[in-house]
Formats: sequence, C-alpha cells, structure tokens
Amino acid sequence: MLITIPDVLTVGEVAQARAALDGAEWVDGKVTAGYQAQKVKENLQLPEGHPVTVKLGEMVLAALARSPLFMSAALPLRVFPPMFNRYTGGGHFGTHVDTAIRSNAMTGQRIRTDVSATLFLSAPEEYEGGELHVEDTYGVHSVKLPAGHMVLYPATSLHRVAPVTRGARVASFFWVQSMIRSDGDRTLLYDLDTGIQRLAAESPGSAVGVQFTGVYHNLLRRWAEM
Ligand code: NI
Repeated sequence: MLITIPDVLTVGEVAQARAALDGAEWVDGKVTAGYQAQKVKENLQLPEGHPVTVKLGEMVLAALARSPLFMSAALPLRVFPPMFNRYTGGGHFGTHVDTAIRSNAMTGQRIRTDVSATLFLSAPEEYEGGELHVEDTYGVHSVKLPAGHMVLYPATSLHRVAPVTRGARVASFFWVQSMIRSDGDRTLLYDLDTGIQRLAAESPGSAVGVQFTGVYHNLLRRWAEM
C-alpha cells in the first residue's frame, strides 16, 4: 500500500527544519547504502548521530506519534531514527530496494524495514524533478508532495528518485518495523480500520461498529509480532 499523509509537520516545524538543514554540513549519501544501492545513489545526507539529525529526528518522531493516520497505516513497532537527505545538481537515486535489516547507529538495535517513509521538506515549486517513483504490481507511482507531507510505501518495493535538475529537494527518510510484517495483511487492517471509522462517523453507537472493532483487534492479536 502506498499512502500519503498530509500535514505531518506544521508550517512552523518545516521552517525550523529547513533553517537547521540549509546550513548543515552534508556528506555523501553512499555511507548508508548497501552494495547494490551505492552504485546508483548520488545525493547528500546528514550523518547519523549529527546533532541536527538527532534534534530534527525527535521532532519528526513526535509528529508521527500524534498522527492517527500514520499509526493506522504503519502499525509501528519500531521507527528507525529519521535521517535527512538533499538532492541537487542532477542528484538522484536509481532503482533499488531498501536494505532489509538496519542497525540503529546509536543503540545498535536492529530493525526490519517493512515500511519506507519520505517526509518532504521542500515545496514542489522549489525544485525540478526529484519525484519518488515506486513500483508495484499496478505499475509505477510518481510522488512529489508539499513540504510537511509524507508518503509511506512498502520497503519491499523497487523505487527510485528522479534527478533533480533545478533547485534542491530536501527530505527526511526513515523506516518502520511494523507489528504486521506483510504489506497485504497491513493493508487489510488499514482498510478495516478506515471502514470502522467511517461507520462510527455515519452511525454513532452502532452495534455493528462494535462487532467490527472486535474483529479488527482480534486480527491484530492474531497477526501482531512484537
Ligand atoms: Ni530507498
């Protein structure tokens, strides 16, 4: 499932992030890429553990915690500390699949990357190109969102970032280990949850809503890995 989550960060938070990032010391993005991805990756990143990475990462994590849509769609067990990248001057990231297991540089804790996330920090009109292309069985999806908006997509997918031919594309990126490993199962739970929310809005106090809520939790109980 590919889903966009609007307004994860407020306008003020985006401005705060950009003020810190636009003056930061970026390094070659190849440092965190696996063997195959290194060959196709050409962008800049802030190092893991850099004070700006840590501070802004905490801001992103706090924003995720207050997003019901993120919780429902990702069903997060662990979130990898958010990182930040910058594409400019033709920078791009060719077709790749994300590394399955990553270690948190600070704690050594490993996470399985089930869901990939890109949180846009540049407005679309600030740069040319830079679309995220995600492949699934329905074709290729092109994503370019307003600053502060985020896209979630299966980490199992092949994806790429088109060359940025004007301006700079700044974003936060990270991964989620979900309680639900399978994208198909996670999508099913998300669809069920969305239906329950609609039912609650259209028929408050519905006994059917209570029954479906029970089904939702019992599926989660059956499938969740902790
Ligand atoms: Ni990737």
